[in-house]
Parts: sequence; C-alpha cells; structure tokens
Amino acid sequence: MSPSKSRAKPSGTDQLADSGAMIDLQVMSGTMGPDVIDVRKLYAETGKFTYDPGFTSTASCESSITFIDGEEGTLLHRGYTIEELTEHGSFMETCHLLLFGELPSKSEMLEFEHDITMHTMLHEQLYNFFKGFRRDAHPMAIMCGVVGALSAFYHDSTDITDEHQRKIACYRMIAKMPTIAAMAFKYHIGQPFIYPRNDLRYADNFLRMCFAVPAENWVNRPALSHAMDKIFILHADHEQNASTSTVRLAGSSGANPFACIAAGIACLWGPAHGGANEAALSMLAEIGSVDRIPEYIAKAKDKDDPFRLMGFGHRVYKNYDPRARVMQASCHEVLEEVGVKNDPLLQVAIELERIALEDDYFAEKKLFPNIDFYSGITLKAMGFPTSMFTVLFAVARTVGWIAQWREMIEDPHQKIGRPRQLYTGEPPRAYVPIDKR
Ligand code: SDX
Repeated sequence: MSPSKSRAKPSGTDQLADSGAMIDLQVMSGTMGPDVIDVRKLYAETGKFTYDPGFTSTASCESSITFIDGEEGTLLHRGYTIEELTEHGSFMETCHLLLFGELPSKSEMLEFEHDITMHTMLHEQLYNFFKGFRRDAHPMAIMCGVVGALSAFYHDSTDITDEHQRKIACYRMIAKMPTIAAMAFKYHIGQPFIYPRNDLRYADNFLRMCFAVPAENWVNRPALSHAMDKIFILHADHEQNASTSTVRLAGSSGANPFACIAAGIACLWGPAHGGANEAALSMLAEIGSVDRIPEYIAKAKDKDDPFRLMGFGHRVYKNYDPRARVMQASCHEVLEEVGVKNDPLLQVAIELERIALEDDYFAEKKLFPNIDFYSGITLKAMGFPTSMFTVLFAVARTVGWIAQWREMIEDPHQKIGRPRQLYTGEPPRAYVPIDKR
C-alpha cells in the first residue's frame, strides 16, 4: 500500500480584501468537484479565521477514495459508481477497492478474502468483556466498549508508523467487526455466541453468527446473504461524513486505529447520522398507517416542532441519495424472499415518500430519502431488532473509516487537527473572593 500522493493542482488565485490590504489565496482543483481556496496562511497574514460551524463549506483534507456529487445524486468509490459496485461486485471486492484503490484480480481477490478470513476470530479473553454489560445494554454501547478495548489485545498492530502494522490493523478491523457485532446481538438476546467459520464468505459468516443456534444446523439463505452483502456495500464509505471526520481527527493525534474506530462508532450512533435507520423505522411504526401521514408531514414542516422525517434530507445530497434507490429495490427483494406481503411499514414508507416528494416544503429544501429511509424495513425483515440497525451500519462503514484513516496517516500534509473558534465569552475580569460575591 504505497503512501497516497497529492493530486491537487494549483488552478489560480483568489484575492481577499481585508481592511484595505489584499492577499492572494491559492485556488486548488481536484479531479472532480468544487475547487478549494487554500486558507492555510490566512491567519498568519490577516490575523483572522474562517468561520464555518458544521463545515458546510470546508474541505478538511484531500482524498481519492470517495466522490459525491450532491446536486446530481451520484456516489463513486475510486471512480466506480455505487450502482455498478452493488450490481456486479461484492463487499469484499469493495473493501479491496477502498483500501488499495483498484478492483482486485481473481488471484488478488482470493488472497484478500483469505487474509481477512484469517482475522475473524476474537481473542478468547474478550468473551469475558461482554459479560460485564447488562443484557439490555444497547448493542451500540457494547460496540463502543469492545472495539475500544481491542487495542488492549492487539498491541502488534498499533504502531501507526509501521506500514505492515497499519495493514494488519485494517484487516483486523474489517474482519472482526462482524464477529463483535454478532456477539453484541447474541449477548443482547441471551443466546450463546457463535464462532466464525473459515469456509463461509463474509456476509454468510455474519448472518450465521447472528442467527445460528447450537440446537440445530444452520441453513444458509443465499438471497438474504446477497442482500446483506449489498447493504454492506451501500454503507461502506461516504467521503468526509461526521463519523469519518471523527476517525480522521482522532487519528491525527496518533491514536491507535482501534481507538479511532471506537470514536467513529460513537459518532455514528447519533440519530442525525447512523442512528437515523433505527429512528426512521421507529418513526414509520409511530405513524402506523397511511392516513396518519399528513399529520407527520405537518409536524416535519412546523418550525416549532423538533420532529424531523428520519431517513430524509442530507447535508450533501440535494437530490435522491443513489444508495436509497438501491436500498429500496433490495427491500422489495428481501420482503419477497421472507414472504412478507404488503408490509404495513413499507406501505407507509412508500406513501410518505410520495407525499413528501410532491410537497413544496421538501422540494424547496431539497429533502429526499437517504440511505436510512428503507434500510430499517429491510433489516427488520431479515430478523434484526431495530437496536442492531446502527451496529450493521458500523460493520459496513468500518472499511471506509479504516481506509480514510490510513489515507490520512500516509498523507504527507497531515497534521494534528486543531480547529480555532469565534470567542464570544467574557473579556478579562478580576477575581472576586467568595465572601465578596
Ligand atoms: C447519514 O454525511 C453523510 O454522508 C451521512 C451519511 C453517511 O453515509 O455517512 O449519508 C449517513 O447520516 C444520512 C442522514 C441520516 N439522518 C437523518 O435521516 C436524520 C434526518 N435528517 C436531518 O436531521 C438532516 O437532513 C441532516 C442532519 C441529515 C442534514 O442536516 P443539515 O445538512 O444540517 O441540514 P439542516 O438541518 O440545516 O436542514 C436544512 C433545512 C432546515 O430548515 P430551515 O432551518 O432551513 O428552515 O431543512 C430542514 C431543516 O429544518 N430539514 C428537515 C429535515 N432535514 C432537514 N425538515 C424535516 N425533516 C428532515 N429530515
């Protein structure tokens, strides 16, 4: 895995007027997407910061992994569309692509899958770690704790300056997340842990660890494994989203990769981010029937009501999330496979989408369904409780997090991330002893 090389090209300068003085700021162009204004020297030359809470107009890094065109609603991983990757590829192939930048040859694919498979087991001592949690602990709380603890077990892949250790850390994270997620699920429902099997492919292995029981033979269902694999691809990476930015910021201090992924898991849990799939299904269940949709559309439009349509809207996509289209198609396939006809939640979701997309409020604000809108219905039909939905998102996103982490570590420009602020607190004032207050 060679260190990434900067592909940014200077494409001119912009001038900034600052109390009469003009400074030249370099404009840089990537291979696609908006140009950036390089403000790295702004404070040194003007004594001023930029101000961009939520980073709506800020590029935090240079990356060659994923490209999103929010206006067009397109998503590319190393130049390949999400539609083609889900149609023709596999999650393991996408993992290789995200990590190494190229689709693998047949021999590379076999070697990569073998190497990942060889890391799927957990240190046996970690099994005791789960027993410290209450049975009703949210599986995401367990994921945060157990993944953060991995650095206590895998010391030989925590030296971030060693390229081989970085690679092993990437492989361990991709390989062990399904095992940890399945164990969190089994612990939550009070069933015995199921060990991974080396003769099963990634999605099959995961579904078996989740749903097999020692009391009977496991019967694999290829249609569900295929759907699971596609869901993993859809969630694999998404540019500099909140949790990926969290992983990058944690990694910029030199923290070990396991701790960085644990930080990403914590951030993903939020309902505005990866927690939206669980919240979207709860919302559909609360709406309950098609005739109650207008009431909830009104709530979503009411400025005084904090309610938002979960699974709708996106910071970047101002068009239909391309992943949502693939997710919706997969949802229908899974419901047919498991024999669910006229799922009431799906009926509510389809009608809610139709009504919202015809409503001026959502059109003006460019609010469309995102990946979380249909994923919950699919995962519920596959047998997962809503508390596991964000865990599945975390399993899939681990490859994106760890690929972005490695790119950041190998970026010659990377420095510890340390934003500044606009201070609006008290000016200096004298201390008053407590008996005089
Ligand atoms: C993910 O970044 C990524 O790439 C994330 C992700 C990934 O793969 O990593 O794609 C995964 O997190 C998808 C998003 C999942 N979250 C949800 O579905 C939660 C519901 N969505 C919203 O909370 C919201 O749309 C966000 C958080 C997704 C985006 O918020 P922004 O970009 O900060 O937009 P905003 O909050 O400023 O909203 C703009 C306007 C506001 O109205 P005004 O103040 O301008 O009048 O649109 C309104 C909002 O009130 N709005 C919504 C809405 N989302 C935005 N109104 C009703 N329902 C919604 N869902």
